[in-house]
Amino acid sequence: MHEPPEILLLGPGPSPSSPHVRRAQSKPLLGHLDPDFVPLLDAAQIGLRRLFGTENQLTLPLAGTGSAGMEAIVANLVEPGDRVVVGVNGVFGQRFADSVRRAGGDAVEVVAEFGTALDIKAVCAAVAVGATKLCVVVHAETSTGVLTDLRDIAAATRQSGALFAVDCVTSIGGLPLDFDEIGVDAAFCGTQKCLSVPPGLAPITFSERALERVHARKHPVPFYFDTKLLTGYFGKARSYHYTAPVSMIYALVAALEEIEAEGLEARFQRHRDVSAALRRGLEPLGLKPLVPVEHAAPMLTTVCYPAGIDDAAFRKHLRQQHRIEVGGGLGALAGKVFRVGLMGHGARIENVLRALAAFGDALAAAGHRPDVSAALAAVHCD
Ligand SMILES: Cc1ncc(COP(=O)(O)O)c(C=O)c1O
Repeated sequence: MHEPPEILLLGPGPSPSSPHVRRAQSKPLLGHLDPDFVPLLDAAQIGLRRLFGTENQLTLPLAGTGSAGMEAIVANLVEPGDRVVVGVNGVFGQRFADSVRRAGGDAVEVVAEFGTALDIKAVCAAVAVGATKLCVVVHAETSTGVLTDLRDIAAATRQSGALFAVDCVTSIGGLPLDFDEIGVDAAFCGTQKCLSVPPGLAPITFSERALERVHARKHPVPFYFDTKLLTGYFGKARSYHYTAPVSMIYALVAALEEIEAEGLEARFQRHRDVSAALRRGLEPLGLKPLVPVEHAAPMLTTVCYPAGIDDAAFRKHLRQQHRIEVGGGLGALAGKVFRVGLMGHGARIENVLRALAAFGDALAAAGHRPDVSAALAAVHCD
């Protein structure tokens, strides 16, 4: 096998994983029903409940990437003809709406321009009109770096009798979620962002209210995503549903141990601190964040290119000269921005310093005159 190079992953995911997580992933394989393995399923579920801020019994790491989690929510909670309000201010909101339509749902989009916040009142109003069954939003929209405040939408959705589901792929592990307190009925994420586990698992959580809806369905849920069958394996029965990705569960449990050892509040603060440091360092380089700080997700900063900078050449320079990966823009923002993820194990001041120096070098290579010394000094001035 070709030896993969060491690249500092500062894009929108995957984020770097720690040596502890990588070691865990390479431990001897066990059977997915082995008595030494099944306690790890429990450990994973307990750790995930802490991160989602829920006591939902049905909280588990589904096999598959984040999109499998989205499909699981849709497959269980949407039936043909259901009215589903979808907040769309980026590519992943669009994907949610598309997924709802593929399941036969009537997706009613509340749209905001990419890079701007959703109009919360408009989402609440859309939920209140008509017989809405479900409202879904993306907590941290990874295509733009915009954060959506969940509280008012949750309250309006609860009042209307609909369910509220959240995509927290990018926010989990980097921001407090408190889903029980807020009133979130179902949520999904991936492991490759602020949990710093390689891609391949989609933790999901369903409230009792959500499960009542599932039990009342007229149409069957596709086999793989069937919450009853998943509960058979992850609950006490331990009945075979699919062959769980054992090594991925090792990695997840190791990451959850690290998160617990760090402490949730300390971890969230670390994400806020490095994000603020990055933003301070951008200005002396002549770079501007796309999203105002009050709407910005701390773990993902979208940066606008100054005039005359070619996206592909800029990112190639970072990759080849500095061994750093950042993300390009998606959808309407392609070519106009680049995305910097400071997530999980990657959310460190030394990475901010390395990234700013590399951005400065790439800008200088394109004929700009960034003040790299001032950028690096700004990192430490809070
Ligand atoms: C907010 C959000 N939702 C959904 C997804 C889809 O996850 P995956 O690419 O792991 O399938 C992503 C991936 O980046 C994401 O950022």
